[in-house]
Amino acid sequence: MTKKIGTKILGTGSFFPDKILTNADLEKIVDTSDEWITTRTGIKERRISQEHTPTSELAYQASVQALKSANISAAEIDLIVVATITPDMMCPSTACFLQNKFGIKTKPVFDLAAACSGFVYGIAVAKAFIASGIYKKILLVGAEELSKITDWTDRNTCVLFGDGAGAMVLSASEEQEEGILSISLGADASYWDLLYLPAGGTVNPASERTVKEKLHTIKMHGKEVFKVAVVKMAQVAEEALILSGKSLDDIKLIIPHQANMRIIEAVAKKIGLPMERVFVNIHKTGNISSATTITALDEAIKCGKLQKGDIAELVAFGGGFTWGAAVIRI
Ligand code: COA
Repeated sequence: MTKKIGTKILGTGSFFPDKILTNADLEKIVDTSDEWITTRTGIKERRISQEHTPTSELAYQASVQALKSANISAAEIDLIVVATITPDMMCPSTACFLQNKFGIKTKPVFDLAAACSGFVYGIAVAKAFIASGIYKKILLVGAEELSKITDWTDRNTCVLFGDGAGAMVLSASEEQEEGILSISLGADASYWDLLYLPAGGTVNPASERTVKEKLHTIKMHGKEVFKVAVVKMAQVAEEALILSGKSLDDIKLIIPHQANMRIIEAVAKKIGLPMERVFVNIHKTGNISSATTITALDEAIKCGKLQKGDIAELVAFGGGFTWGAAVIRI
């Protein structure tokens, strides 16, 4: 019988633009207050990229760090996957631009779109490619510039989002008990119109009308998104835990998608985990979609909250709706 191939995590990295947009800054742009944003979301500030800095640049900076921590060169990577809903262009993929920055050729690259669940979906894709023996070393990136698809006159959404990128290097391993231990994914597209970006695709190609009506920016029904997010994140976290064969006591830290502090607290309560074992950095980042779980994981490792051998669980939820969880050993 052929031996099963495991997947281990060789390194992680993250990158944020320098510019900080605080709640006080937002008070000058829309009718809002630091008090409202803090109590309703937990967000105090978020990072915003420069007008002419593309998503691939954030992806590149995070990837350089991840490769350094993995102690390998870009030339050793067999596949690059970039999870994003804010690509540099519709075509080619942001993964192509990232590859070009590294100057490596002939290796396959592609983007993955699963909104805020993108990085966890990407972990599943990476694990499948490695387990099948097709590729041995994969660079997986979650990179977003949500500031560029935000309506800065809409107080319902503009206070929530930010920019940033995180990266992970995964590799084949003979060991089954390290790296990616289990994954559970799901989606229910009947909810598509609760969180979406109407124009720029084939339904509403870019036109004078789409620009005038601000259809190139995120539209959201926050209250409805909130309710489904809590239920699905708690459910998928439990499913992945069961699949991993571990118990909640084995999990050192849960790293949930950072969309709203109240969603995070409600999910923790539902699965019976004290907040001391839930990683939160939303106050500094806002919601950065597919980059949230990986940048939070990288920070948890860097600040020593997760150490070699520890088990963590990433839990995500996003537009679609999509959701997913991965139990990992660092
Ligand atoms: N500042 C001040 N007031 C605001 C505001 C802001 N930035 N945004 C909305 N409001 C107002 C609303 O207009 C509403 O006023 P009204 O009662 O006069 O109509 C009031 O605040 C309450 O709005 P409500 O919808 O009840 O707030 P909420 O408690 O549901 O919080 C969200 C709103 C968006 C923070 C919350 O619903 C949320 O986070 N949802 C999930 C969003 C999300 O996670 N999206 C990404 C998923 S991946």
